Amino acid sequence: MARLERDKVSGQMTTGHEWNGIKELNTPVPSILWAFLITATIFSVSWTVLMPSWPGINGYFRGLLGVDQRVAVTQSVEEAAVERESWTSRIDSEDFATIQADPDLMAIVRETGAALFGDNCAACHGTNARGNPGYPNLVAAPVMWGDDPETVAETIRVGINGTSPEARYAQMLAFGRDQMLARADIDAVVSYVETLSQPELAAGMDAGMLAAGASIFADNCAGCHGEDARGMTDTGAPNLTDHYWTYGGDRATIRHSVYYGRAGTMPSWEGRLSPTHIKLLTLYVLDLRANEQ
Ligand code: HEC
Ligand code: HEC
Repeated sequence: MARLERDKVSGQMTTGHEWNGIKELNTPVPSILWAFLITATIFSVSWTVLMPSWPGINGYFRGLLGVDQRVAVTQSVEEAAVERESWTSRIDSEDFATIQADPDLMAIVRETGAALFGDNCAACHGTNARGNPGYPNLVAAPVMWGDDPETVAETIRVGINGTSPEARYAQMLAFGRDQMLARADIDAVVSYVETLSQPELAAGMDAGMLAAGASIFADNCAGCHGEDARGMTDTGAPNLTDHYWTYGGDRATIRHSVYYGRAGTMPSWEGRLSPTHIKLLTLYVLDLRANEQ
C-alpha cells in the first residue's frame, strides 16, 4: 500500500511510491506554468473562433471577424489598376509637350521607361542607353533619324532595316566588296574621314591624297552623309565629324565600314509593345538626352 508522508528535507509530500527505499516527491506544477497554459488555451480557442480556421467539406470556417487576406490583396490590386488606368489614359491622350512639362507624369515615364528599356532595349543599346559596338548611343550621339518625339516614336514603332514592311531603310554601301571604288580611293577617303573627327591627323598625311579623299567623299558619300559629313536624317546616315561611332572611329573599323558596308538592324516594336509603351519609351529616351545636355 502506498503511504503518503512529508519529506523532511524539502517539506513536500511524497507520491507514496517507493523503489528500493527511494521515494518520489509530489512536486506540484508551478502556478506560473498553469497561468501560461490557461492563457494560451483561451487565446487559441478565441483565435480559431475569430479568424479563418477549420477546414470543412464545403470550404472553411471563415471566423467571426471575417478577415480574408485574399480580399485584401484583390482590393489593393484593384486600387493599383485604377491608379494605373488614370495615368495610362493621360499618357495616351496628352501630347508629348504636355507630358514633358508635367513633373508627375515624367516621374512615371522615368520609372516605367527604365523598366521597359531594361527589358527590351538594353540588350543592344546598353543598360545606360549609351550604346555598344554596332548599336548607337541613344543618349549623347547626334541622332541619325531625328530627335523630335514623333520621329523617335516612329523609329521605335517600325524599326530600321527590319522585317516590318514600313521599316526605315538605311544602308552603308559596300564600296570595296562591290567594287564601286578602287582600293587606293578607299584608302584616300578613309584618311579623309579620319581627319573629320581628328583634324590633328592631317599634319601626318599626304595633302594631295587628302584632297583626293575629299573629292571622292563629295562624289560618293556626301549624297547620304551630307556635304559637311554631319549626317542627314533623311537617309539615316550618321555624322562622321564627331566622336560618336556606331561601329568605331579607328582607321581599321572605318575602313571596314567603307569596304564591306553596314546595315544595322533595329527591330520593329509595333505589336510587341503597346502604343502606350512606345510613347513611354520615346519620352524616356528623349528625357535621357535632355538631361545629358
Ligand atoms: C537587336 C538590337 C536592338 C534592340 C533590341 C533595340 N535596338 Fe534600337 N537600334 C538598333 C540599331 C542597330 C540601331 C541603328 C540602326 C541604323 O540606323 O543603322 C538602332 C537605332 C535606334 C534608334 C534611332 C537612333 C537614331 O540615332 O536615330 C532609336 C531611337 C532606338 N534604336 C531605340 C530603341 C528602343 C527604345 C529599343 C527598345 C524598345 C531598341 N531601340 C531596341 C538595335 C536595337
Ligand atoms: C546610300 C547612302 C550612303 C552612302 C552613299 C554612304 N554611306 Fe556611309 N553610311 C550610311 C548609313 C545609313 C550608315 C549607318 C549604317 C548603320 O548604322 O548600320 C553609314 C555608316 C557609315 C560609317 C560608319 C559610322 C559609324 O558610326 O561607325 C562610315 C565610316 C561611313 N558610313 C563612311 C562612308 C563613306 C566614306 C562613304 C563614301 C565612300 C559613305 N559612307 C557613303 C549611308 C551611306
